[in-house]
Amino acid sequence: VSPSPESPRLFIPGPTDVDAEVLREMSRAPIGHRGPQIEALIAEVEEGLQALLGTREPVLLFTSAATAVMEAAILNTVGENGVLHLRCGAFGDKWEKISRSLGRSTSSCEVEWGRGFTPELVADELRRGDYDAVCLTHNETSTGVLNPLREIASVVREAGDTLLLVDAVSAMSAVEVDFDDWGVDVLLAGVQKAFALPPGLAVAAVSSRVYERAEKLPNRGTYLDFLSYRRLLLKNQTPSTPSTAHLYALRRQLQRIHEEGRSARARRHQQMGIQTREWTRGRFRMFADEAFASPTVSCIQVPEGFDVADLKQRALQQGFALGSGYGVLKPTTFRIGHMGEHDSDSLEALLSTLDQILDGPKDGG
Ligand SMILES: Cc1ncc(COP(=O)(O)O)c(C=O)c1O
Repeated sequence: VSPSPESPRLFIPGPTDVDAEVLREMSRAPIGHRGPQIEALIAEVEEGLQALLGTREPVLLFTSAATAVMEAAILNTVGENGVLHLRCGAFGDKWEKISRSLGRSTSSCEVEWGRGFTPELVADELRRGDYDAVCLTHNETSTGVLNPLREIASVVREAGDTLLLVDAVSAMSAVEVDFDDWGVDVLLAGVQKAFALPPGLAVAAVSSRVYERAEKLPNRGTYLDFLSYRRLLLKNQTPSTPSTAHLYALRRQLQRIHEEGRSARARRHQQMGIQTREWTRGRFRMFADEAFASPTVSCIQVPEGFDVADLKQRALQQGFALGSGYGVLKPTTFRIGHMGEHDSDSLEALLSTLDQILDGPKDGG
């Protein structure tokens, strides 16, 4: 289908475009959620996810948006010692709100939007308190900032029993991770971003340290209890009826991801980040500090008085959907999501269209 205002190419920071073959997998007839058919399907999905994330632990599958798993991560790990939130944008703020809504005691460390966390800063913060968990946004979608997960995980591991919970919603599958080796405790994402599937499924790698903690925590609820997900996954099942349509699509997408190779996939995303930053330099300013620049989302700052809504509208008329700035950044930024199925060529098509819009005659002029 060629891009049109009604069916544009999605350069928003998720949901992202879905490959036609993967989309067709969604239309397979439903199967029962107990029995050999679903068990074979989930076994293949697990194998693909474990290889992608570098873990031997079962990767939990939730029929939900990622927010539910952010909530689950708190419910299953945070008790009396509370949680430290590392906030560098809107999604870090959101996680702290979730913890508060669950009655948890929270502390937070915030860096200026556009910057990320250094391991030194995290180590300093951890020395100030004894926390059950620390929450980090791997890739802050509101600002286009990627945090150095491996280095941060290493300082958290040195801080005793504090667990590291990571929202990797806009990074997973586009940024290489080795979950077991790095010592991360929860790594969660929805599949509607770099995985390039329709929204509705979330996944989470979970360490054995988390299950040990969860066993001691009362009132973990029912739908979001990690222990019941693990128990059923050991039989290649889920506690409640899953979206089998998503599991079929995820199985196919994981095959495609491994055909490309996880390192090659990460390089493709890095390249798109560089390409977008090069384009931006000639016209605007990147909102994020170069040291933390994201390979999946670019947040682009415009000069005062620039009409972002008009640019978005003109791009849409050409069949390209751009992302608005997030929250307080809406009037002064726009975002390009360059992830999932996109590559240098599709990105170039967008950037040259933006060039034509920006350099062309204005309406009526
Ligand atoms: C970094 C990050 N965290 C969490 C979310 C929330 O994801 P969901 O809408 O699947 O709950 C998003 C969505 O954009 C995100 O980008």
